Amino acid sequence: MGRLEGKVAVVTGAAMGNGWGISKVFGREGAHVAMLDVAEKVFEAAGEFEGQGYSVSGHKADVTDLDGVRKVVDEVAAKHGTIHILVNNAGIARLVPFLEMTDEVRDLHFNVNIKGAWNCTKAVLPYMVEKNYGKIVNISSVTGALVADVGETAYAITKAALWGFTKALAMEVVGNNINVNAICPGMIDTPMVRSGVEAIMPDDPQAIIDALASGIPMKRLGTPEDIGELAAFLASDAAGYITGQPFIIDGGSTLPESNLGG
Ligand SMILES: NC(=O)c1ccc[n+]([C@@H]2O[C@H](COP(=O)([O-])OP(=O)(O)OC[C@H]3O[C@@H](n4cnc5c(N)ncnc54)[C@H](O)[C@@H]3O)[C@@H](O)[C@H]2O)c1
Repeated sequence: MGRLEGKVAVVTGAAMGNGWGISKVFGREGAHVAMLDVAEKVFEAAGEFEGQGYSVSGHKADVTDLDGVRKVVDEVAAKHGTIHILVNNAGIARLVPFLEMTDEVRDLHFNVNIKGAWNCTKAVLPYMVEKNYGKIVNISSVTGALVADVGETAYAITKAALWGFTKALAMEVVGNNINVNAICPGMIDTPMVRSGVEAIMPDDPQAIIDALASGIPMKRLGTPEDIGELAAFLASDAAGYITGQPFIIDGGSTLPESNLGG
């Protein structure tokens, strides 16, 4: 029996990357997965998983639009009885040096990465409170709270903000049998990272991927399925006594104390 058998999950940003990997592992573990994304590609991804025998549905919605999110969430809850699991994964990253960053680009980060998680939680939490059961997993990052690179000021604020949101919300709902935790990935091989790398070196993006991998103690980037495995654990009852915690999953990239290697 799968770890998430009988559970109904909403995963945002599910068309590709980490959300795709989380949806895949959740489907394999027996959950019904409502895959939500602003991109049409979500239907293709849902079709792919259905073809593998998983119980999934694709839904087009923008996490910055609370009414649109509520419509999808209410439809899913009406069809499946409730929602047990929410993964706030949808996110964007545009790397721009601070003095060159427009307010529009800053606000795009705040709207998608912070308000998106806020909106989806607003829409889903009442169902969890009603049933006295829930697991919320926020996809934060090592960026912001632990490390940062040039151009990441807006992105870093939003990812660090999700640590705070995770802790404060965990305290509010601890009496409702709802666990709230955060996953903080290092460098994961997703379209977000690939497009960033292609912008730096369009002719040979793989050279940058290889250079990034060589700086990680495990000598590889993470995969979306790596994130899915941790999310499935945190969304399962095996993690019932864990709440308000950030979990770093980075192949050891934040580990070295020196540059002497390992
Ligand atoms: N890839 C990494 O190395 C890495 C590291 C740390 C954290 N993260 C986090 O993981 C999450 C997913 O990142 P990824 O690398 O898979 O990115 P990605 O760009 O590969 O995929 C993101 C998905 O989110 C969707 N999305 C974007 N804006 C949306 C919106 N307004 N409404 C609904 N869906 C929207 C996109 O359409 C896309 O399908 C993000 O929160 C990101 O910050 C990624």
